[in-house]
Amino acid sequence: MPLKIAVTGKGGVGKTTVAAVLASLLAMDGREVLAVDADPASSLPAALGVPEAERAGIVPLSQMLDLIEERTGMRPGAGPGGLYALNPRVDDIAERYAVRCAHGVRLLVLGTIKAPGSGCFCPESSLLKALLRHLVLDDQHVLVLDMEAGLEHLGRSTVQGVDVLLVVVEPGRRSVDTALRIERMARELCVNKVYAVLNKISSPAQEEELLRLLRASSLEAIASVPYDPRLVQADLEGRPAMESGARDVLDAIAALKEEVVRR
Ligand SMILES: Nc1ncnc2c1ncn2[C@@H]1O[C@H](COP(=O)(O)OP(=O)(O)OP(=O)(O)O)[C@@H](O)[C@H]1O
Ligand SMILES: [Mg+2]
Repeated sequence: MPLKIAVTGKGGVGKTTVAAVLASLLAMDGREVLAVDADPASSLPAALGVPEAERAGIVPLSQMLDLIEERTGMRPGAGPGGLYALNPRVDDIAERYAVRCAHGVRLLVLGTIKAPGSGCFCPESSLLKALLRHLVLDDQHVLVLDMEAGLEHLGRSTVQGVDVLLVVVEPGRRSVDTALRIERMARELCVNKVYAVLNKISSPAQEEELLRLLRASSLEAIASVPYDPRLVQADLEGRPAMESGARDVLDAIAALKEEVVRR
């Protein structure tokens, strides 16, 4: 079954790390993986091991104003009106614009609109919505979406377009609070498969405490990823998570992958 997975959660909890490793492991299974960086503070390319020189050359989809105009009939910042009737043609976007990463993962960077004072993200979210609705084509395709922290970005169109919403939670009340708000919103939007991924767990007691806090909700944890300083080190050195040597983390995310695919 084609699968669209979005990774969300509070800032800094490990969304990009989980998304990058999950995407790589799915690709290593032989699936056609399209990783989508939907965070304006783009860090998925680095997490996927795209070399710095190449990263600098990535033009975010949102900056391809001509492309957006061509597909939507609107230029970003051109104001409202008729935007929601759009149905941008996106089937060939991955083919034309995705960057090839290690393990065969293809990466699209959405970026953000730069126009000062313009509060309108409509053309971009229209593009993202269209991507979510049309891009995954056959059974071997998987889309892994790395989201911006928090809830603002979790628009109706985004959430409703995904099959599985993974909410990353780290030991900490604020991360749990954010996760519960995300879950509530997703449920209101009728997304059924919303799961918590516990990350940066340093002890059984921490895991137990997080599970206790989540028990009051219907947010089920389907994975527990240990804290591993090698991941921090890899990040510091600009190495991808897959090459961090954090075997325990990779194993836990491999188990997460199995669980997501099974469900
Ligand atoms: N299991 C883990 N053990 C140790 N460090 C981790 C773990 N998961 C993530 N990290 C580290 O935590 C930091 C934040 O991770 P990451 O960038 O994946 O989070 P994020 O949720 O995507 O952040 P942002 O909200 O800024 O996008 C990074 O330095 C990363 O290496
Ligand atoms: Mg991130």
